Amino acid sequence: MSIRSQADRVIIFDTTLRDGEQSPGATLNVEEKLAIAHQLALLGVDVIEAGFAVASPGDFQAVKSIAEQVGIADGPIICSLARAVRQDIQTAAEALKGAARPRIHTMISTSDIHLKYQLKKSRSEVLAIAQEMVAYAKYFVDDVEFSPMDASRTEPEFLYQVLERAIAAGATTINIPDTVGYCTPKEIGNLIQGIRENVANIDQVILSIHTQNDLGLATANALAAIENGVRQVECTINGIGERAGNAALEEIVMALQVRKPFFNPYFGRAVDSDVPLCNIKTQEIYKTSCLVSQLTGMLIQPNKAIVGANAFAHESGIHQDGIIKHRQTYEIMEASAIGLPENRIVLGKHSGRNAFRTRLKELGFELSEADLNKAFNRFKEVADKKKEMSDWDLEAIVRDETQLYIDSGFQLEHVQVICGDCTCPTATITIVTPEGKILTDASVGTGPVDAVYQAINRLVQIPNQLTEFSVQSVTAGIDALGTVTVRIGHEERIFSGQASDTDIVVAAAYAYINALNRLYRYLQTQSQTMVSV
Ligand code: KIV
Repeated sequence: MSIRSQADRVIIFDTTLRDGEQSPGATLNVEEKLAIAHQLALLGVDVIEAGFAVASPGDFQAVKSIAEQVGIADGPIICSLARAVRQDIQTAAEALKGAARPRIHTMISTSDIHLKYQLKKSRSEVLAIAQEMVAYAKYFVDDVEFSPMDASRTEPEFLYQVLERAIAAGATTINIPDTVGYCTPKEIGNLIQGIRENVANIDQVILSIHTQNDLGLATANALAAIENGVRQVECTINGIGERAGNAALEEIVMALQVRKPFFNPYFGRAVDSDVPLCNIKTQEIYKTSCLVSQLTGMLIQPNKAIVGANAFAHESGIHQDGIIKHRQTYEIMEASAIGLPENRIVLGKHSGRNAFRTRLKELGFELSEADLNKAFNRFKEVADKKKEMSDWDLEAIVRDETQLYIDSGFQLEHVQVICGDCTCPTATITIVTPEGKILTDASVGTGPVDAVYQAINRLVQIPNQLTEFSVQSVTAGIDALGTVTVRIGHEERIFSGQASDTDIVVAAAYAYINALNRLYRYLQTQSQTMVSV
């Protein structure tokens, strides 16, 4: 069945790998993008915007690999962004060649403020370019999405004209971006109504919404658009993206599921219809969220809706009392609906490899033998220090030990720190270089982490600036694993690293090495970046 004949449900267009990756510091390499794309396919998204192919050789390669390996016949549509420029469209088409169902998403600004200050073009020029470039994209692929950038601040009559031309030229999806996250839900509703009433050929396309979160309204705006007839939503995992981010996929999907009777009538269904409103396998949400957080280094705030650590935690006595008596008194959805592990304490230091493997399988991790061995060794080390290992601990271990870049670059062999109130913090570090040399050096610092980082810098010798350092505990308790996230800057780019350990200084050392390895790999493959949106 084609996607257009399924428009009695919401088409989930995931842009984690394009708009999401535009979050400062969220740079992903090709393997990482591929790993996320595979997980997005498991999650059941309809469209993956895999990148902006013309932006750099790395982006091109990522779109190409995802098109070939994830864009298979029964897989998702694979899309590349392209400005309404011939070179962008040609490059997108080239990168998408391997996809069974390729889509080119072309865009041009339409608001007067963008036309005057950024594009320096007249309205009539933009009208002509939109029409011509949609027709050009159509020459390469059947499925063409068109976005009038800054649509929500565009003069409505002009917006209607641009859309009519784009549809006449062959666009199959019209996406309406609230590029600067300016609108309220009511205004988004009116904008969509206006388009539906004034664009003569609008019924020939799927109408889509793209909402940014500058005022914290992205999800509310996307839902308001759905109520007004939009049938595709553009969103990202954990809501990451440019500035304050995008509408969060998990929020939209769970709102549609939990409030189904509210939304059903907007789809012409009976209030109590059971038919899902989108194709997402919600049990994959938690796993996808963790993967994206780990690979992008973007931590999830504890109170984040759906996937935050506190989203299903009940602290107040009154609430706990209610939950014990009847769950629904204070809980509108079950943690298991998003695949969140419920059985939090299962393994300890006496647990064997088999129990470990079985529990990981229950948590949705299918590891290769080599990864399983690495993770099990680490589990034993941690279990020696920590009596009870929760599912959260297991996940932190698996994430650490299966990091895609762990086997390349610098390996940390040994960390030793002396610190206290009467001594100068001193760290001794041993590393193995990518060429296999074992090196040791020591440094003092203002604190133990500073000493560790200074010593690593002396060994690795890659100039960088530490721009962010944060520690989060994986579970409660004095023996909890701590997850350290660091970001380092090099010229204009930011690289992140994450690691967990019961000793946060050790976690800090590993996190720093992971970030340095990303930078190291980037430097190795660096070639000229061409454009960024
Ligand atoms: O925010 C925006 O306008 C975009 C478009 C390219 C859809 O990201």
